[in-house]
Amino acid sequence: MPIYQPTSENIERAAQLLRDGELVALPTETVYGLGANALDIEAVQKIFSLKGRPSYNPLIVHVLDIKSAKKLAAVWPQRAQVLAEAFWPGALTLVLPKRDTVPDIVTAGLQNVALRAPSHPVARQLLKIAQLPLAAPSANKFTQTSPTRAQHVQQSLGDELFVLDGGACEVGIESTVLDLTGDVPVILRPGTISHADIETVLREKIDIEYSIQEDEAPKRAPGQVRIHYAPRAKLLVFTSPTQRDELLKTASNPNRIGAIIWSDENVKLQHLVKVSNNALQYAAQFYNALHELDAQDCDVILVEDVPRTSKWDGVRDRLYRAAS
Ligand code: TXA
Ligand code: MG
Repeated sequence: MPIYQPTSENIERAAQLLRDGELVALPTETVYGLGANALDIEAVQKIFSLKGRPSYNPLIVHVLDIKSAKKLAAVWPQRAQVLAEAFWPGALTLVLPKRDTVPDIVTAGLQNVALRAPSHPVARQLLKIAQLPLAAPSANKFTQTSPTRAQHVQQSLGDELFVLDGGACEVGIESTVLDLTGDVPVILRPGTISHADIETVLREKIDIEYSIQEDEAPKRAPGQVRIHYAPRAKLLVFTSPTQRDELLKTASNPNRIGAIIWSDENVKLQHLVKVSNNALQYAAQFYNALHELDAQDCDVILVEDVPRTSKWDGVRDRLYRAAS
């Protein structure tokens, strides 16, 4: 099937496919999602098969608004209300105790469900028309770079899949995941909505519990495996011009080296992608840069290290996970 423009007719077709237990790839503001009716066990099973995703990795469920979130969460704490009012629709996922109506396959057997109301108008229109909660991980094969264009979805998952085209994703990396089931809120996956943004809205201290050092998936965010978001090329991070030059020397074919640079440094390479020095804009460009350099057949991608400040947490997390 080709890529479909998001006309009302095509959104209606997508909604019908979802009601029939089929998969649909949909644009969200973060990355493209591979959606299925979250209440249909067989449909959700198809997500795991098509992605090659291990069953211990729970899925995020997309809803239109707070009202539909409350139908899936067993409790709706004040913190959830405050955060949803501040950041929804948008790139924040809230982990809450689940109701029995949410099938175990969606949550990988956990008693909690991850909920997000996306802001992309096409995603919202689809949620409105389908009238279903949509389980949707990123629409790519397991461990590959997430898609930020409709074409990326098709390249990764093939042309049997119905893909709604919503253009380039504005946020560009996956949502921030926040666990609200304990005494203190915990960020399980960083994104563009930062630790500081959340503390400001909640007016309290929150924790962080993610680590790119770990080879095993942490227990609370079981999907956070070490090698993730990886391009086909070998990705190497450099922290100084000297280190960059060292790495350049080791490459076997200088014509197949790509680089992603955000500073003003003057690097002379054929496959060079200049990205923004602003964390939010960088996030919007990063996966696309990886896809581009893969398409240019680079063997190696050298990426300039990013700043250590909290604004960059989401980007830094994806960069280090994608690194070889
Ligand atoms: O931006 C996004 O969040 C994208 C778009 C498509 O919305 N979706 C996405 O979904 O990244 P997915 O399924 O790849 O994210 C799943 C991750 C898990 O790896 C885990 O870190 C966390 O979300 N997660 C999901 N359900 C959870 C749960 N019940 N408890 C703890 N963490 C959970
Ligand atoms: Mg993913």
